[in-house]
Amino acid sequence: MSPTPPTTRIDRVGVIGRGYVGSAVVSVLEDVADVRFHDPAVDGSAPLEVLARWADALFVCVPTPRGPDGRADTRTVMAVMAELARLETTAAILLKSTVPPGTCAAITARHPTLHLAFNPEFLRERHHLADARAPHRIVLGWSPRPPEAPPLRDLFARRFPDVPLVELSSGEAELMKVASNAFFGVKVSFANELRELATQLGLDWEPVRQALVLDPRIGDAHLRVPGPDGAVGFGGACLPKDMAGLVQFAEDSGVDLEVVAAALRANTRRRPDSD
Ligand SMILES: NC(=O)c1ccc[n+]([C@@H]2O[C@H](COP(=O)([O-])OP(=O)(O)OC[C@H]3O[C@@H](n4cnc5c(N)ncnc54)[C@H](O)[C@@H]3O)[C@@H](O)[C@H]2O)c1
Repeated sequence: MSPTPPTTRIDRVGVIGRGYVGSAVVSVLEDVADVRFHDPAVDGSAPLEVLARWADALFVCVPTPRGPDGRADTRTVMAVMAELARLETTAAILLKSTVPPGTCAAITARHPTLHLAFNPEFLRERHHLADARAPHRIVLGWSPRPPEAPPLRDLFARRFPDVPLVELSSGEAELMKVASNAFFGVKVSFANELRELATQLGLDWEPVRQALVLDPRIGDAHLRVPGPDGAVGFGGACLPKDMAGLVQFAEDSGVDLEVVAAALRANTRRRPDSD
């Protein structure tokens, strides 16, 4: 692998963290680019210092688990960014891990040599490859120190010519990602509550749901009870942690997200193992 020259076209893509999201990025982008990855837990991992010099663009897909206080734990993201700054990479860095609003701005303040954008992922874990191949939109959130825009726009247009590219600030894109998961969680708790009322009245929720979702303003998702995993409420790796992180982040910012917090509380009561 030779060092990266300044680029106008992204042909060499590095993926850091090859779990659900990183595997999906590899699978999607290998149609249009040479893709290699770094993940010490997965066979075939390239050293980070090699990827940092070789790649035109680096997608960071490492975990951001729920910390003990509910806040998102961004330490792995921060450690990867510090390492990329130390390695003096000139690649465009696309952060795909879900992070609280302000994270990209904080990273660029701490590591001003990095060229960073937030590129949230919306896939569902159980359909991660299929979802990543059929996105509804691609969101790019430009940090205060962004990479060159045209090569990134070109990369996504090559792979997804018919998918809208939405360009926001990094803070707006970070908020939009957690808002998306919070909205789904609120819908699930709403449906579960209404289903309990239906049951109490001796009625079936399913025909009520079917009639409701014929109205496109309501949207035909997240209203089935039980859900696709056969259980009531929501679980999985993302919704409970991202909603808890959002509620805590809002509280730190002086805003009480009563609706999201209530939906999360109702879910924990209904499904204690999701907490
Ligand atoms: N799973 C989902 O459905 C989903 C959807 C959208 C967004 N996200 C977000 O994407 C991020 C990644 O989620 P995931 O589900 O792919 O996680 P995952 O646990 O499936 O995979 C993370 C991978 O990162 C690797 N890793 C950890 N530290 C590393 C390091 N320092 N360098 C290189 N690799 C490292 C791990 O070995 C693991 O293979 C999280 O922020 C998550 O919230 C997940």
